[in-house]
Amino acid sequence: MTNIAVLVSGRGSNLQAIIDSIEDGYLKARISVVVSDVKNAYALERAKKHGIEAVFVDPDAFSSREFYEEEVLKALRKHNTELILLAGYMRILGKNLLSAYKNRILNIHPALLPAFPGLHAQKQAFEHGVKVAGCTVHFVNETLDGGAIILQRCVEVREDDTDETLADRILEQEHKIYPEAVKLFVENRLSIEGRKVKILHS
Ligand code: GRF
Repeated sequence: MTNIAVLVSGRGSNLQAIIDSIEDGYLKARISVVVSDVKNAYALERAKKHGIEAVFVDPDAFSSREFYEEEVLKALRKHNTELILLAGYMRILGKNLLSAYKNRILNIHPALLPAFPGLHAQKQAFEHGVKVAGCTVHFVNETLDGGAIILQRCVEVREDDTDETLADRILEQEHKIYPEAVKLFVENRLSIEGRKVKILHS
């Protein structure tokens, strides 16, 4: 079974979706550690409730991102991490972490990339006036929200939407496609060819 580490900074609803898919047998994997850069992130509570090791690594305790990430890497290695999931992790990854886990880091983004990378993607899309919004699971590389795309799901924008109602409906889809993408990864069904990810049939 693949050992997964989930990196979080906040409420952890995507972490919960992964935990639930493991517990209901959809995903055959194990979350061996959840690492947060925010001390009181609710995601840490979620992990503990499910008996998962939850670790806070304080970025302010290190003089540089490199040193901070070394500490994160230590926690990942200690738990034999094979796959890293970013789930609302609000930091850009540095070189060491990226190269230690090349093509083994996934992220969920609440927009149809490459449109609306970065923060508050749902609001950016809403304010731009898009008619179709959505979410993306992608591999993580050195470009922010720029790695090869694994899965995307569309959400139609309604006339009476606010950026918040839209974000809520996008989140529902995030909770579906993230476990789906992780399942493809752990079943070894993803093949990266340049910018394209081929999904192999089981
Ligand atoms: C999600 O919208 C995710 O797409 C984005 O950050 C948010 C995290 O939410 N990267 P949660 O912590 O998983 O509830």
